[in-house]
Amino acid sequence: MLELLNLSFRVAVDGKEKEIIKNVDLTVPDDKLIVVTGPNGGGKSTLAKLIAGIERSTSGRIIFKGEDITELGITERAKRGIAFAFQQPVKFKGIQVVDLLRIASGKELNASEACEFLSAVGLCARDYIGREINASLSGGELKRIEIATVLARGASLSIFDEPEAGIDLWSFRNLIEVFEQMRRGSKGGSIIIISHQERILNIADEIVVIKNGEILRRGPKDEVLPTLIGTSSAVVGCRKADAEGGEAIC
Ligand SMILES: Nc1ncnc2c1ncn2[C@@H]1O[C@H](COP(=O)(O)OP(=O)(O)O)[C@@H](O)[C@H]1O
Ligand SMILES: [Mg+2]
Repeated sequence: MLELLNLSFRVAVDGKEKEIIKNVDLTVPDDKLIVVTGPNGGGKSTLAKLIAGIERSTSGRIIFKGEDITELGITERAKRGIAFAFQQPVKFKGIQVVDLLRIASGKELNASEACEFLSAVGLCARDYIGREINASLSGGELKRIEIATVLARGASLSIFDEPEAGIDLWSFRNLIEVFEQMRRGSKGGSIIIISHQERILNIADEIVVIKNGEILRRGPKDEVLPTLIGTSSAVVGCRKADAEGGEAIC
């Protein structure tokens, strides 16, 4: 279980203090899939980075599996079972895709095991396994490789920041199946997905809406999703039809 207690994150912008996350209280129970949504600039990515230890909260506490991890860095949190897939993936020059998957999983994955993770994100594994993580990979490819590394981690808390970005329709459907499998197969683990996609919101156990650094709404999917659809312009800013003819909440 993850608990955020009165968590805040403030930065100085042009000499003025800006509060990006404001006194957030949130519990993420084990074995649950939580989808965090809300308008751009609302603080979703920042909240994910605070949980993973990439940004440090300015006040409040973060409790993970009963331990106060507020003062721990990224590596220590990763060791305790928190895995994070960035909205914009990082490039690790010189490392091959297969190495990245091995590092993530902490195991000597053989080629077919590594291929499974790549196939799950819609990459034809044989073409990618020996590729270097460099500028020759497109943004979408990098993003998928990053998601594959989080799958390979098999962490007790996996966080995905807008996994839909840069992913084509076929892979997107596949990815939703992967998230559902992760949830079904989890043992005391939880998943946080930041997303605007209705199809992802639909597989949530709970939905959290964040706006202006605060939790605007939080509850079971069946309660929160209807409040986003139809009246979403008032709630989350805007809503547009996505390329698949489905609905994207943005
Ligand atoms: N380190 C930082 N310094 C200054 N502003 C920041 C910093 N991190 C985030 N922000 C600002 O905080 C707001 C929330 O950003 P973000 O968490 O990326 O929102 P979201 O993911 O919901 O779109 C944005 O206005 C962003 O520019
Ligand atoms: Mg974001």
